[in-house]
Amino acid sequence: MTPLAQMAEDVLRTADGREKTALSRKYAAEWMSARAAGERPEIGHATPPDSPARPARPELLPPRDVPRRRPGSEQGRIALLHAVAHIELNAVDLHWDIIARFPGTPMPIGFYDDWVKAADEESKHFNLICDWLEARGSHYGALPAHAGMWRAAEDTATDFMGRLAVVPMVLEARGLDVTPGMIEIFRKHGDDMAIAALETIYAEEVHHVAYGSKWFNFLCGRHEMDPTEAFHDLVRRYFHATLKPPFNEEKRAEAGIPPDFYWPLAESLPDRS
Ligand SMILES: [Fe+2]
Ligand SMILES: [Fe+2]
Repeated sequence: MTPLAQMAEDVLRTADGREKTALSRKYAAEWMSARAAGERPEIGHATPPDSPARPARPELLPPRDVPRRRPGSEQGRIALLHAVAHIELNAVDLHWDIIARFPGTPMPIGFYDDWVKAADEESKHFNLICDWLEARGSHYGALPAHAGMWRAAEDTATDFMGRLAVVPMVLEARGLDVTPGMIEIFRKHGDDMAIAALETIYAEEVHHVAYGSKWFNFLCGRHEMDPTEAFHDLVRRYFHATLKPPFNEEKRAEAGIPPDFYWPLAESLPDRS
């Protein structure tokens, strides 16, 4: 079996979205079946690219130039889920990148199990949203997308704990805040296919945030650091914005992120009565 870090690099170097997710799912299945058989496959080493290979389309634009459309129209809902597909494709790469980029930090094998499972789920999410776009005569690449998605990975390319703080515990946790509102939009329009895809994403993303929190806390314990202080320091260093309430406190708690992690990083102290 190919060492895991090499598998990760192969996924990162695959440009086409559907090909990337197919390879990601194939490798994840190989890893999971080896683990289920009681094996401890090799992690190995890799030389991941600074940023992952991407298809020629979508055109990547600065966020302010990406046209916004109101989700009241079908075109607006296509634009909304096109943006979600873009986020999911980045999430596939972000999960494999952490495996390829930091193999020098020895981690228990359960860390790799979690990350491979999450990468597999991100691949499924991308495919579910692409299926929806294609069922509506569109496709991933038909609209421009946000160019800044890889910024968090670049900023934390040499800081493993910074990566865990910013990617799963800030960016993926933000997904928990906004997904219920998206599901509501599609419920209003009776779009069962979109609702099913978003509900799958919502349920599985809680685990991704929980994996981030679990292994962040593990590393804080290894280095005898206070997790709350370490989280605040790393997010202030690497994440260039304040966190936006309202927060999904219930799902964040389910994922192991307590309120004193995120409220002090919010733009203003809200009325919490
Ligand atoms: Fe996802
Ligand atoms: Fe995720």
